[in-house]
Amino acid sequence: MLNQLLKQPSFSRDNMISLLSVKGDDTQKVLNRALEVKAATVGRNVYLRGLIELSNVCAKDCYYCGIRKANSRVHRYTLTDEEVFQAADFAWRKGFGSLVIQSGELSSPGFASHIERLLKGIHQRTNAELSVTLSCGEQPYEVFKRWHEAGAHRYLLRIETTNRALYDQIHPQNPLHAYAKRIEALEDLRKAGYQVGTGVMIGLPGQTIADLADDLIFFKSLDVDMVGMGPYIEHAETPLFEKFMLLWPAAERFRMSLLMIAGLRLLMPDINMASSTALETLDPLGRQSGLLAGANVVMPNLTPVINRINYQLYNNKPNLDKDPALSTSSLNEVIEAIGEKICYFEPGTSRHFLKRQG
Ligand code: 5AD
Repeated sequence: MLNQLLKQPSFSRDNMISLLSVKGDDTQKVLNRALEVKAATVGRNVYLRGLIELSNVCAKDCYYCGIRKANSRVHRYTLTDEEVFQAADFAWRKGFGSLVIQSGELSSPGFASHIERLLKGIHQRTNAELSVTLSCGEQPYEVFKRWHEAGAHRYLLRIETTNRALYDQIHPQNPLHAYAKRIEALEDLRKAGYQVGTGVMIGLPGQTIADLADDLIFFKSLDVDMVGMGPYIEHAETPLFEKFMLLWPAAERFRMSLLMIAGLRLLMPDINMASSTALETLDPLGRQSGLLAGANVVMPNLTPVINRINYQLYNNKPNLDKDPALSTSSLNEVIEAIGEKICYFEPGTSRHFLKRQG
């Protein structure tokens, strides 16, 4: 039965529910099939995106996130332009091919011009050889457009969960956190010409396997180019921590995250998919496991070490003390050891996007 299901050319919502419901040895069967499909479509290639956590200053109050506005224990920082340019230069020299600038969410003219200035400065200093992804939250269409014109061609905005009721449980009920606005932003990103990425958290309190299958079907219906998803990890200084007792055990959230990656590789074989840092938080070999389940993107953290302690979205975030130079020197070995190849000096544009462009 499972063998047959795994060989199907297309998958329904019910198929995805069956896939995500496997237990025991069948889990590995699903992961193996996803690796086969990855090898046959995008190849066993890994693309690097240097991650710069620009600022933890945030206007939002998402109940799950450690850097939410109301968390007064967080020391707020914003990197200087020079720090950002140095990280970009490091990525460029090391042949990472691409960068992600992630930030707490601010919506202001000052923030819009800050990002625009950084984009222009990065491209100027790196001979416009780095592809840049932004992950800076919901913004007006005009701002998305402006940033695109300044040289950001990819954008990540997670939907977090497509179950509306659950979305409302994990966000404050006000216009700043409205589900409809999130969807609108994803549509605006597409219109503005971006390669669009989204994603969800896996194992949220109260989330079901059917919800997760719906998330995968949503990615397909939105025809996304990139996905980043990973386990939900509780943070003690957030309101959602109260629902701790409803959580699946960490090992189960980890297993479900791998099944989600594998399921999506079967459903959308040519997209780019990140092996998330959250996976590594739950298992020291999590990053490799993600790649072996069908992911093809790794995001080494290039944030200056002194700031990392303040960018903790969840508890026990790894590599808080790892110097970028050190963490990237071992990366090649670790990835080659599992039979994958890092593609240096390549932008690693989503094949799905290239195909859509024609
Ligand atoms: N556990 C896992 N992921 C989280 N994120 C935020 N808080 C948590 C958490 N507690 C993720 C969200 C967000 C991304 C930047 O980090 O999905 O979109």
